[in-house]
Amino acid sequence: MNIVVTSLKGGVGKSTTSIYLAAAAVERGYDPVTLVDADPQASAAEWLEIWPVEGITVVEAPSERTALRAMGRVEGVGIVDTPPGSERLAQSAVGAADVVVIPTRAGGVEYSRVTATLELIPAATPRGVIICAARRGTNDLEAAIDWWKSQKVEVWGVIPERVGIASGPEARLSREGLTEYDAVLRRALRGWR
Ligand SMILES: Nc1ncnc2c1ncn2[C@@H]1O[C@H](COP(=O)(O)OP(=O)(O)OP(=O)(O)O)[C@@H](O)[C@H]1O
Ligand SMILES: [Mg+2]
Repeated sequence: MNIVVTSLKGGVGKSTTSIYLAAAAVERGYDPVTLVDADPQASAAEWLEIWPVEGITVVEAPSERTALRAMGRVEGVGIVDTPPGSERLAQSAVGAADVVVIPTRAGGVEYSRVTATLELIPAATPRGVIICAARRGTNDLEAAIDWWKSQKVEVWGVIPERVGIASGPEARLSREGLTEYDAVLRRALRGWR
């Protein structure tokens, strides 16, 4: 199965989410787990090159064609990280996805880009948004959760803002991040079955 992590918006947490979901899948016993990095910037691949996670195989697939081919070859669980701003690649990837996870942030400016992303997904494909780098207890977060509820879009997770979860090759994966993203993975797998 392929879980595609996508949003037309940049810098929302796609790569961070992809890496943590792949690591959570390994911890759940899925084997093999493939991280398909469809972003030419290869930030997920770079991070895992510096801090490899045993059980995750990284496939760099920086184009629509290579990404679709890599997704077709996935056995077990595939997590697909996508670049911002390439509607074409995003559309192809979500078209071939079993489940779609859309990272977003709390705050009103986000909604239109997420809605545009949602419109790319085939009607029958399970999807959920997750709110990344969230500040629990803030009005912004409450408003975002209420908004998605009102739009009948499932919120599969609220990942707190933490230095330890922040991506970038400076640090290995944090235990808190793994726990938070394990809950997202559970929701995604439930959506699929
Ligand atoms: N839970 C979190 N807490 C704190 N910072 C976070 C969290 N999740 C992501 N970030 C930070 O937000 C920034 C964007 O994250 P990330 O690179 O995963 O987003 P992206 O959507 O893949 O970006 P791009 O569109 O450039 O590919 C990074 O600096 C990352 O460290
Ligand atoms: Mg990224």
